[in-house]
Amino acid sequence: MSNHAGFVELIARKRDGKKLRDADWRVVARAAAALERDPDNAPVPAYQLSALLMAAYLRGMAFSETRALTTAVADSGERLDWSGVDRPTVDKHSTGGVGDKLSLIAVPLLAACGAAVPKLSGRALGHTGGTIDKLESIPGLRLEYAAAELDGLLRGNGCFIAGHSAALAPADAVLYHLRDVTATVSSRPLVAASIVGKKLAAGAGTFVIDVKSGRGAIFPSQRESLRLARDIVRLARDAGRRCVCLLTGMDQPLGRAVGNALEVEEALAVLDGEGPGAVRDTALELAARGLKACGLSGNIDEAREAARGRLDDGAAREIFERMITAQGGDLCAFVKRSRDSIAEETLTAPRAGWLRRIGARAVARSAMLLGAGREKAAEAIDHEAGVVLAVERGARVETGQSLARLHTRRPETLAAARKALAGAFVIGGERPTPHRLLREVVE
Ligand code: URA
Repeated sequence: MSNHAGFVELIARKRDGKKLRDADWRVVARAAAALERDPDNAPVPAYQLSALLMAAYLRGMAFSETRALTTAVADSGERLDWSGVDRPTVDKHSTGGVGDKLSLIAVPLLAACGAAVPKLSGRALGHTGGTIDKLESIPGLRLEYAAAELDGLLRGNGCFIAGHSAALAPADAVLYHLRDVTATVSSRPLVAASIVGKKLAAGAGTFVIDVKSGRGAIFPSQRESLRLARDIVRLARDAGRRCVCLLTGMDQPLGRAVGNALEVEEALAVLDGEGPGAVRDTALELAARGLKACGLSGNIDEAREAARGRLDDGAAREIFERMITAQGGDLCAFVKRSRDSIAEETLTAPRAGWLRRIGARAVARSAMLLGAGREKAAEAIDHEAGVVLAVERGARVETGQSLARLHTRRPETLAAARKALAGAFVIGGERPTPHRLLREVVE
């Protein structure tokens, strides 16, 4: 069944709450992959796939259906094979956050601890950032590679970060895009199949997944995020992979910088032994959990010690630099780049009090208005644009004190971005209780 009329039956079955068979999910993934290859001649149009996604969103999916879709997504294109690599392969993924620059630190850190880390990343869409956009702020850096070239990069440096090629899990590219424009992103089975399907195609033996939880995450509720983490671990295990999920808080941006070049700078600071503690601690924990899950460390204390050691002795920073150079990037040119054309403005506190909240979505909205993100996939971004927070949640602030700096090459955006950013800060009379960043570990 790969024609228009047959697909209607499939939509109707899901609309009526029936379980689809494995073969039906293969039809869905094949239809999505055909749309990715040749949208004008695909047998199933985007509107029918969208209707099916909405039916799945509203009716839910049995775990067996989620597993069938996961396998079908992974098989919708090529699968990378790292079986010839002589170190354990570990892949890291995040469900998406604001100010989340952790891949830039965790990837070289895991490699410095002895893992091979083939990391394929995406771009920003909606309110969450994308690692590829961040890295594109480094002059000369190449991010598109054929599979054979990726093999050379992994063997040479122990890691790479490259763009997700259209040949890998092409069904997910279409399904994710359709979900993004039909309000069907926040479906637990669809998120789990999207993430694990892509990771299976990318071929690593162990997955470390950072499942964000809180107001700035796909699932604000910790209960739903925890269920997602359990589904991800079960799907990965059923496919013969090792997997650990960390549930981390995303109520406020991670660290201080939100925006592409600004986040690369903050990641470099952490690799240099500086930078915000929340970024450092989360990157260390992700790396340590990955080392334990892939078998390089026998227990979590030993893994934490190894990760801390390799961050503090500069080994992770050295591997990051080698990775950037091997991919054609010029880190010195990035560090010394001119900031002459960048307009900056300070947002100050309108009153004194305790900083009770820094809303992640409002900060992301402000950064996007400044040019750091995109509302539509084809939009150009300004790599220098973004927001740097001057204070952390829980701080005592005085009237007129700096809360954040806005950066942009599009000064006409400053007024709207300032207004959006002002809405992120909630100042009150009572000191807030601290948030825990690491909430659960599922393995
Ligand atoms: N990240 C993904 O890769 N897929 C989703 O569906 C959501 C977040």
